[in-house]
Amino acid sequence: MPMQKNSRYLVTAALPYANSFTHIGHIAGAYLPPDIYVRYRRLAGDEVIFICGSDEHGTAIEMASIQEGVPPQQIIDRYHFANKKGFDDLKIEFDIYSRTSNEEHHKTAKEFFLTLYEKGILTQKTDKQLFSEKENRFLADRFVTGTCPVCGYENARGDECENCGSNLSPLELINPKSKITGDTPVVKESTHFYFPLADFQQKLDEWINTKTDWKQNVLNYCKGWLKTGLKDRAITRDLDWGVKVPLKDNEGKVIYVWFEAPIGYITATKELFQNKGDAEGWKKYWFDENTKLIHFIGKDNIVFHALIFPAMLMGHGDYILPYNVPANEFLNIGGLKQSKSRGTGILVKDIVEKFSVDSIRYALAATLPENRDTDFTWEDLQARNNNELAAILGNFVNRTVVFAKNKFENKIPVRSSDSTESVELFNYVRNQTTLIAQNLDAFKFKDALSEAMNIARNANKYFNDTEPWKLIKSDKDKCAAVINDCLRLCFSLAVVFRPFLPDASDKILKILKSSIADLKWDDAANPKINDGEELGENIILFPIIEDEQISKNVKTDSNEAANTQSGGDDSGIGLITIDDFKKVVLKIAEVLECENVPNSKKLLKLRLKVGDKEKQIVSGISEHYRPEDLIGKSIVLVDNLKPSKLMGIESQGMLLAAKLGKELRIVTTDGAIDSGAEVN
Ligand code: 2FM
Ligand code: ZN
Repeated sequence: MPMQKNSRYLVTAALPYANSFTHIGHIAGAYLPPDIYVRYRRLAGDEVIFICGSDEHGTAIEMASIQEGVPPQQIIDRYHFANKKGFDDLKIEFDIYSRTSNEEHHKTAKEFFLTLYEKGILTQKTDKQLFSEKENRFLADRFVTGTCPVCGYENARGDECENCGSNLSPLELINPKSKITGDTPVVKESTHFYFPLADFQQKLDEWINTKTDWKQNVLNYCKGWLKTGLKDRAITRDLDWGVKVPLKDNEGKVIYVWFEAPIGYITATKELFQNKGDAEGWKKYWFDENTKLIHFIGKDNIVFHALIFPAMLMGHGDYILPYNVPANEFLNIGGLKQSKSRGTGILVKDIVEKFSVDSIRYALAATLPENRDTDFTWEDLQARNNNELAAILGNFVNRTVVFAKNKFENKIPVRSSDSTESVELFNYVRNQTTLIAQNLDAFKFKDALSEAMNIARNANKYFNDTEPWKLIKSDKDKCAAVINDCLRLCFSLAVVFRPFLPDASDKILKILKSSIADLKWDDAANPKINDGEELGENIILFPIIEDEQISKNVKTDSNEAANTQSGGDDSGIGLITIDDFKKVVLKIAEVLECENVPNSKKLLKLRLKVGDKEKQIVSGISEHYRPEDLIGKSIVLVDNLKPSKLMGIESQGMLLAAKLGKELRIVTTDGAIDSGAEVN
């Protein structure tokens, strides 16, 4: 069997920021998959710890504290405890849910920083930063907003453009403004520590090349970054809230949140073992090469977990490197992106009030955005619950238990011999169990779940084909053997569904009066039920979800969709009609001239021929194309975009380009076509 047994696993789930409530997109991305994985690994006999906690620093939290006029501690307490409860409600069971505001974390992060400093790895650089004279503070990351130099989005943040996903630095923003006061900042010098990521380019390249079994989306992303060339990263900030830089003459400076947050995984492991009274116990998880470190994250965290944190660990020495980083894509809601800043999305604290933990876990597990963005709808949750959980799995358990109750005095009938059908049936279960394990080993949770449901489908078929309602009259012994088989199948289903549906699995095992304590994955093919034992009370595992429970939610969502789309700052994210699409005039344009925009790292100025007119556009593609590469090319132009100014130069449209990770390619035509031709 390919299943690796008795290994040691250190599984982490991205530390959510304690500045907002988690939504189901977070759950499907980075929390439900590791919970399934950890439950499966434990059943398979492996030694596993599962680490998470709140990420409690960063500008978003400091900003919320300023905007609400309350201390940051009040903000993080609010979200830390609410999010922890949300995980508990969904039965996502971490061994520890820590917090990066803990003293132990500040100590660990400072030690890590100092080790790199003492090894001479960190560099220092004096650079220009934006400074608000009114607030007497440097405007780091999210403290500043302005126009994105890449896509022209007017509400881009200092660290990232939410519209096009570009990583930015505050100085790159056009017309920067303080997020708090709206004032235009001045430029002032400040000295910061840098992590020399560029020096790790070759080592990371070689290391990533050994990861042939990683998910393709993750590899593509990493290779894109490596191809563009890694750059040194500033790892300190001029802020009040955070882990203080542990060196003299650095007052008012903290360690950048993305440098210290992943160290939070180390701190949380230390805390877990301290709580167990085994202060040294954490070391075998972080220093022993036999430990498999697996980071579950969403795609927006790939660069930090698959390149930057590994480079930090390489630089520090001693620590193991990630074994795998199975990042997921995003889960949308009815076609809309879930977004904290827009207030859209389905919050965990709300959904757990309305539906059972098993229905939610099943609907999400069946829709996980494993390889591409996927879409969650309430109708799908209802259909998955009613047509699969209730109609297939719940129905099989219920019909079997009811039959035993009515015809065998509510006892597990004794099986006198194994029929050929019965032997074949459990051979099939054994093969399925292996197949499910292979899928789980490969982080293919949706496939694993669907194979588990296939066992339930075949179990119903076995019940139908053997016709126990006839056998009870013609051959009671044979009927007893069939019902015994069906109850053993209930046990098998409780095992294979256990990682996905822990509640339902417990309920089935309780009905069977089977021991939960030392359950093993392999027991699925060798069910442990006690012939002759009285069954426990039958319970309906998956009550039907009625239409009106769903329609209430659909109404709420469509209001949200309407709000979002009329909000004006969404730049078209969400579902549109064909009429909306027709508002955009796309035309083929020929590039006549192209040149770099002086003093800009990203912008190119292009002169275009669009039919019989000429236009000028400014585009943030100079990290991907040299001007001479573009001259003579046919591109696709958004012709009716309102003109805007980028670095003082008018842009009269926008070209289309596709972006994956750091890779960017402009959209061209398949063969020659005259400029001015409309694209639709
Ligand atoms: O994206 C986020 O929500 C980050 N707070 C994840 C941090 S993961 C780790 F590095 F701490
Ligand atoms: Zn942008």
